[in-house]
Amino acid sequence: MKKRYLVTAALPYANGPLHIGHLAGAYLPSDIYVRYLRLMGREVVFVCGSDEHGAAITVKARKEGTTPRAIVDKYHEMLKDTFEKIGISFDIYHRTSALIHHQTSQDFFRTLNANGEFVEETTEQYYDETVGQFLADRYIVGTCPVCANPDAYGDQCERCGSTLSPNDLIEPRSMLSGSAPVKRPTKHWFLRLDKHENWLREWINTGKVDGKTLHDPAAWKNHVLGQCNSWLDQGLQPRAMTRDLDWGVDVPPEIPGSEGKKLYVWLDAPIGYISATKQWAIDHNKNWEPYWKDEDTALIHFIGKDNIVFHCLIFPAILKAHGGFILPVNVPANQFLNLEGRKLSTSKNWAVWVHEYCAEFAGQEDVLRYNMVKKMPEQADSEFTWKGFQETNNNELVNNLANFVNRVMVLTHKYYDGLVPVVDTERAFKSGWEADKAGQYNEELALLHAKLNEMGAQVERFNFREALQLAMEISGAGNALLQFNEPWKTVKDDPETVKVVMNLAVQYVAVLSVALRPFLPFSAARLRSMLNLPALEEAGDLLDMLNELVEGNPVVQPRHTLGAPAHLFSRIPDEVIQAQIDKLKATEQAQASDEGATVNFTPVKDTIQFDDFAKIDIRTGTILSAEKVAKSKKLLKLSVDLGFETRTILSGIAEHFSPEEVVGKEVVVLANLAPRVMMGTESQGMILLAEDAEGKLGFVSPESGWQAGMSVG
Ligand code: 2FM
Ligand code: ZN
Repeated sequence: MKKRYLVTAALPYANGPLHIGHLAGAYLPSDIYVRYLRLMGREVVFVCGSDEHGAAITVKARKEGTTPRAIVDKYHEMLKDTFEKIGISFDIYHRTSALIHHQTSQDFFRTLNANGEFVEETTEQYYDETVGQFLADRYIVGTCPVCANPDAYGDQCERCGSTLSPNDLIEPRSMLSGSAPVKRPTKHWFLRLDKHENWLREWINTGKVDGKTLHDPAAWKNHVLGQCNSWLDQGLQPRAMTRDLDWGVDVPPEIPGSEGKKLYVWLDAPIGYISATKQWAIDHNKNWEPYWKDEDTALIHFIGKDNIVFHCLIFPAILKAHGGFILPVNVPANQFLNLEGRKLSTSKNWAVWVHEYCAEFAGQEDVLRYNMVKKMPEQADSEFTWKGFQETNNNELVNNLANFVNRVMVLTHKYYDGLVPVVDTERAFKSGWEADKAGQYNEELALLHAKLNEMGAQVERFNFREALQLAMEISGAGNALLQFNEPWKTVKDDPETVKVVMNLAVQYVAVLSVALRPFLPFSAARLRSMLNLPALEEAGDLLDMLNELVEGNPVVQPRHTLGAPAHLFSRIPDEVIQAQIDKLKATEQAQASDEGATVNFTPVKDTIQFDDFAKIDIRTGTILSAEKVAKSKKLLKLSVDLGFETRTILSGIAEHFSPEEVVGKEVVVLANLAPRVMMGTESQGMILLAEDAEGKLGFVSPESGWQAGMSVG
């Protein structure tokens, strides 16, 4: 066992709210783990914060027509608040726009540069000439070479999931202007990942670096090892650690050629774990260095599977290249959570937003946490459904847990005025753990001890589903204890046995108040107050409890007075679930109609110069009269007042408008178009019209009341 732990949870991009996929992926598992460590009296710091750089932020700012700063400020606060509401107990929730983070990242860059870890290379990158900017991968769209999706991004195709580079895209176009980008040379700093490939392979697969064992690969998840090896097998290539951007951490200004260059977001974001630790240390008058530099620290990164390569290969390479830093002992990445049969998607609004859940289900935060653990995608993708959410609440939290606690509270108050009965510990009763098994007081305490131990072992192996299951078995056994012994029937005839049963039942509830704390912190706190026991400070409480139980000591003393029964969980009715399902259906329908309403715009014609435009003379006018043209289906002959003269103009609108309809219309006229004879009549200009995707025509009109003959341009 290590002396201390530093636990990190992936820094979420500050470009949108938190959804249940994020929660089940990185935040809930890390929170459970950390709470458990604290309960075991271990020294632990839990860091996270907003990832405020990278294209994720600038793309969002463009979409919302605002600045990156406004975006990160808004979502940083929102994320922080949501984490608090759902009970994620970070020791610090920091942000990468903080000065200390910029300084820490720049120092890293300087050291890597001084250590010769970079190779400077000039490469051709896509550049948008219209806006005068190099294009981040996310700013280039084009056709996916794998699935022909016409809107694949320069780094990934969201339809088929392929990882791409901008050069892979067919017919790339800039998201900023829609134009075809050109290649331009630009210099960047590339980290020589190829140099690190061999030790990374050995470290990942054997846990050894330079002959020293740093971790046990058998404790790593198979899918994590699999992904790492698949990257390693393809051979690691030097990777650019800088970008041409105007938002992010500056490349240190004293480095020649740094102007206009920012650090690659995947260089600065993981360093965010370090700067967050530094800020935490400042705030608490501690030293941050042992957490990152002492080999007696266990560094553990909780992430989703899309972040594996960065945390298992690139960041470790950066830490080793820098020197003096420890490497993670485990990266227990989770797979993905789906929602009602579809992939969760922020852009498609296919999500359960945690802040909305907290508002709509206030006081039921633990119900979501419980369901998220039950559905945690620990080894494979899993799925959240609202029906499943309702079922686990009604069947497990209400029927099992709340029902047990309520029976214990009510019966203890009824039989003993809330005083925990004094018992004859030698007296036999029916055990709750196995039907028809005789129970014995100290044996039951030993069973509780074993269960708690087993639960802890599962948490330490990152098997949170299994661990919660074990905790809930305590409640199940408690219910069975009451059911098998039926104190309500025997209290009169056999009061001494009932005392043993009820005393034990109280011990079960007290054990639950600690065992459930990592998973259901709000409910565990309610249990403590119902039991009239001190609130948990998560400072060795579980360890203390284990020490009592192993000695055969009860954890609530006889004659202790319980508090009042309080509400724990209630049934969630069908209409509440239906309302959530309807909300998702509405999203689906809105999306389908959006897709149906997709407009196919005709491509923009070749660029002209201003001089070309200046040759065009456009005027306002009014249609004075209109008549059909003999033998023409399409043409109307119009007489148009241009103020300074009246023109005859033939216009191809007869299939769209009757002559009567157009008389009196205020229009815009191309006045210096060369006259043209059609059907024996000279047309002296052109009326401007707009045409939609279905070919429907509409007049382009000046605001009503404009004088005829005004110049437009
Ligand atoms: O994928 C993401 O959401 C990233 N913002 C995670 C960053 S994790 C860490 F490196 F900071
Ligand atoms: Zn694709």
